[in-house]
Amino acid sequence: MKSKMERPYVFLNVAMTADGKIDTFERRGATISSQRDKERVDRLRAEADAIMVGGRTLLDENPKLTVKSADLRAAREVNGMTPNPVKVGIVSVADLKSASDFLTAGPARIVIFTTQRTSKKQLEFLRARGVELFVHETQRVDLPKALYTLKEIGINRLMVEGGGTLNFELLRLGLVDELTAYVAPLVFGGETAPTLAAGLGLVRSEAIPLKLAEAETWEDGGVLLKYKLLSNSG
Ligand SMILES: NC(=O)c1ccc[n+]([C@@H]2O[C@H](COP(=O)([O-])OP(=O)(O)OC[C@H]3O[C@@H](n4cnc5c(N)ncnc54)[C@H](OP(=O)(O)O)[C@@H]3O)[C@@H](O)[C@H]2O)c1
Repeated sequence: MKSKMERPYVFLNVAMTADGKIDTFERRGATISSQRDKERVDRLRAEADAIMVGGRTLLDENPKLTVKSADLRAAREVNGMTPNPVKVGIVSVADLKSASDFLTAGPARIVIFTTQRTSKKQLEFLRARGVELFVHETQRVDLPKALYTLKEIGINRLMVEGGGTLNFELLRLGLVDELTAYVAPLVFGGETAPTLAAGLGLVRSEAIPLKLAEAETWEDGGVLLKYKLLSNSG
């Protein structure tokens, strides 16, 4: 029988520099992936039931979160899936504009987890756009609850595409099963440049242990690292 506390299998993907940055201090969504890595990410997306991003990535970067390759979209449909995965936003104040690519690029089902900090008017606007909304009463989105909801609505494989704050919270809460990082041969530096895992951070004794499952060196100078989470409490 299905457990009430079941959540999807969660795999987190990032592109980062050799100094762990996932963007420059300018926060304009700097390109870090090589062409080969972009294709790998597209295949990973095509294997997901849903793709999740955090509020700052959603509002500042306005990602499409669709599968770029027509062949991959067609293959999903042959397998009885929708052409694109469900798009999931984790956003405290869901101030998306009507022309937002997150809302318009598709076709795709859109799910937003937000809080009561989003105005009633904005919630109505999003509902009218066909967004499935879950409004949490906490100050920020309750991530375990959001994952259980996703499982309940049919999401078995969830891909997380950042940013660093969401990544850290999911890792801290033991809600991640797999972490893949493409490490580009670049250094961005910058104290304020976002990193793979931001948030408040952990003391050494609470560091999250990882098990390296795969490491590949690529001809573009990058390295692909795939880790499994060891102390997964999910
Ligand atoms: N290279 C890559 O692979 C990659 C991928 C994605 C993004 N990025 C970069 O990452 C940067 C954005 O990352 P970010 O760390 O600033 O933001 P983020 O992780 O995208 O979004 C975090 C925001 O989501 C909201 N939120 C609501 N509930 C939350 C919860 N339970 N836990 C965590 N966040 C919650 C919070 O908004 P409030 O603070 O308003 O409550 C929080 O500030 C951008 O520069 C983007 O380009 C890089």
